[in-house]
Amino acid sequence: MDKVVINGGRRLEGQITVSGAKNAVLPILAATLLTEDKSVIKNVPRVVDVQTIIKIIEALGVQVNNEGDRVEVIPGRYTSFTAPYELVSTMRASVCVLGALLAKVGRARVSMPGGCVIGLRPVDLHLKGLRALGAKIKFNHGYIDAVSSCLRGADIYLGGAFGSSVLATANVMMAATLAKGRTVIEGAACEPEIVDLGNFLNKMGAGISGHNSPVIVIDGVKKLHGAEHTVIADRIEAGTYMIAGAITKGDITLKNVCFSHLGAVIDKLKEAGVDILKGNGFLRVRREKELKPIDVTTLPYPGFPTDLQAQMTALMAVAGGISIITEKIYPGRFMHVSELNRMGAEIYIEGPSAIVKGVKSLSGAPVMASDLRASAALILAGLTAKGKTEVSRIYHLDRGYEKIEDKLSVLGADILRQKE
Ligand code: EPZ
Repeated sequence: MDKVVINGGRRLEGQITVSGAKNAVLPILAATLLTEDKSVIKNVPRVVDVQTIIKIIEALGVQVNNEGDRVEVIPGRYTSFTAPYELVSTMRASVCVLGALLAKVGRARVSMPGGCVIGLRPVDLHLKGLRALGAKIKFNHGYIDAVSSCLRGADIYLGGAFGSSVLATANVMMAATLAKGRTVIEGAACEPEIVDLGNFLNKMGAGISGHNSPVIVIDGVKKLHGAEHTVIADRIEAGTYMIAGAITKGDITLKNVCFSHLGAVIDKLKEAGVDILKGNGFLRVRREKELKPIDVTTLPYPGFPTDLQAQMTALMAVAGGISIITEKIYPGRFMHVSELNRMGAEIYIEGPSAIVKGVKSLSGAPVMASDLRASAALILAGLTAKGKTEVSRIYHLDRGYEKIEDKLSVLGADILRQKE
């Protein structure tokens, strides 16, 4: 297994390009299954989760060609409708093939995703939505078994105890594209990744409107065709590098960024004393002053994203005062805290909040990554810590960050990957 070794204390400077959004491309690749025609997806990040969804699509008997950041999917005829346990257990987002398969072949067998380190993550909203469209769903031997001879449009409310669900909205949207009549999703997720999926589905011939609002209307069509699409920039990757610039008192420029997707992040970084300059398609992040403590609450979009909570906690760990970070999407998503404390941070968990007492500096230590964003937080902490930090179990990192050590090295970080 690989580990990442960082010698902290370098100021980051320079320019890098943000990759395509992992969380947009996963449902988009699932959506290519809604037609027999070829679809071409560009700006696809080279990360392990993308390889996993490609393997699931191939397991259905579908041809996929992947070269660089371009993926071609040529569905033709399916030989299977099962997303197997071996793949789904490595990536919960695999559940997003459920809606597309059900709509296209009338049958889907998807391994029930298990729990995960960031929280319980049930799939009740996905199933509620698909059942409302007329699917019959059973659980057999750890699999969700869904069948439908004909899906019919319906009014569906998808809000849950922790807000709307991103992938449930994606699944229901995909299934409804080929249903008879009109579907109205209320309490729909408004994340930019849902907007990107809706735009791709419309390019395929779907009749979707309102897909940047909590009420999405889908007028079912008989058939969809292949389409070409360039995936949006990854706002979470961008946010992670913005925090890298801030935590190292650096001056970095990010290319291929969509500012409007980063409103809450820009606002919070400015409040912490970081200068953010918006240019033509680029964003410059510079810090000259000391970091001010701030309170952050994660919320569904356009609120502050849960996928940047761990990274923001790392930043506040070295701010001059007390910050309160409250997690409203996954109340237990604080696995990074004990590892940050091993590096000298002073963070206490109180229910769904982390109370962060900023310290002057962190000290490098061997730490263990528990999930994708926790890994990123530990790398950020390592960049500012005194001495050497070794982050192990970095396979989590490879699931969602394309060439993170290379990008950070370009910015001047002393970081390398080593075999453990
Ligand atoms: C997506 O997961 C993202 N994954 C996650 O990113 C992200 O953290 C999450 O949205 C929230 O923004 C992808 O897009 C591939 P949800 P998703 O359903 O859709 C509860 C990362 O690090 N819920 O919007 O699976 C759920 O437990 C990952 O890149 C139900 O109660 O998340 C949570 O509390 C991790 N019932 C809340 O809703 C359901 O049926 C939001 O989860 C579904 C979800």
